[in-house]
Amino acid sequence: MSDIATLERDILGAVASASDEAALEALRVAALGKKGSISELLKTLGAMSAEERKVNGPLFNGLRDKVTNAIAARKAELGDVALNARLASETVDVTLPARPEATGTIHPVSQVLDEIAAIFADLGFAIAEGPDVEYDDYNFTKLNIPPDHPAREMHDTFYIARQEDGSRHILRTHTSPVQVRTMLKQKPPIRVIVPGRTYRVDNDATHTPMFHQLEALVIDEKTHLGNLKWVVEEFCKAFFEIENVTLRARPSFFPFTEPSVEWDMRCDRSVPGKIAFGTGNDWLELGGSGMVHPNVLDMCGIDSTKYQGFAFGFGLDRMAMLKYGAPDLRPFFESDVRWLRHYGFASLDLPTLDGGLSR
Ligand code: PHE
Repeated sequence: MSDIATLERDILGAVASASDEAALEALRVAALGKKGSISELLKTLGAMSAEERKVNGPLFNGLRDKVTNAIAARKAELGDVALNARLASETVDVTLPARPEATGTIHPVSQVLDEIAAIFADLGFAIAEGPDVEYDDYNFTKLNIPPDHPAREMHDTFYIARQEDGSRHILRTHTSPVQVRTMLKQKPPIRVIVPGRTYRVDNDATHTPMFHQLEALVIDEKTHLGNLKWVVEEFCKAFFEIENVTLRARPSFFPFTEPSVEWDMRCDRSVPGKIAFGTGNDWLELGGSGMVHPNVLDMCGIDSTKYQGFAFGFGLDRMAMLKYGAPDLRPFFESDVRWLRHYGFASLDLPTLDGGLSR
């Protein structure tokens, strides 16, 4: 057997049995690199006679091409092997149950928010949203609270630096500006709730600078206070999971509603540290409401001679505190995982009306 044939057999054998890409690369350098065996062979062509070169040229070049092709083929093979091994080792069994070690829980405010969304979706309400940083105009003026109105004082507003044109942004003090936003872009009938963050300069056991409100807005051609009462009642029944809800209406004042009503629900606080809903001789404050003031409708582009509606704004954190028995509001926003583990909810329990809101 000629030297060339031996060389070819040796190299091709080694290529075929190379076990990974690094070994293959070493073989390539040893054969085809600058000082490789085949490269050296090719260099000898220069010193040969024309006759010899005619014979050896095609032979050597043929050997180089064969080895080059064999290396490329083996490289592709090894690539497939490596990819298949990775695919096999990295498969995820999507049918496995959730890992038992998952310890994340749902924050009570998120839980209450999901419960409320389920209740109002069932009553045909959509969810509307607005920004936390709000125009003074939407938070106050278009809600019938002109710039010099004393009601602005009540809101303990966080102001943001004046813009160049003199206008001022604020952190919204209630979710009511989303009433304005909704009416400006949507024609009646309107039925929305607005759960969201609100801000006031305040901080004690039952007030935090950031808190959550639940706003509701209904605008139609024949809306009246009775509808408002019915919605509040249905909401309380579903949310507090009781049948016998007794509501008490107190006259109140908000510049953006007329008449304005505050709602209380019957409850029992006779056992210290406990609260029961639906019975007893005590009253639980729910929040403010009323028939939307015609000035607000007109300022938001809705014909107040044809349409009217109601709105309410309840404290969402307060509802979470009452329903789940948390005495202090501040820990809600302190990010202490021990508190969250105590009050939190399993992440896979989605509240639904038929499956039960809280289990
Ligand atoms: N926005 C009012 C508040 O924060 C509550 C409210 C909302 C009252 C809607 C009436 C109608 O105090």
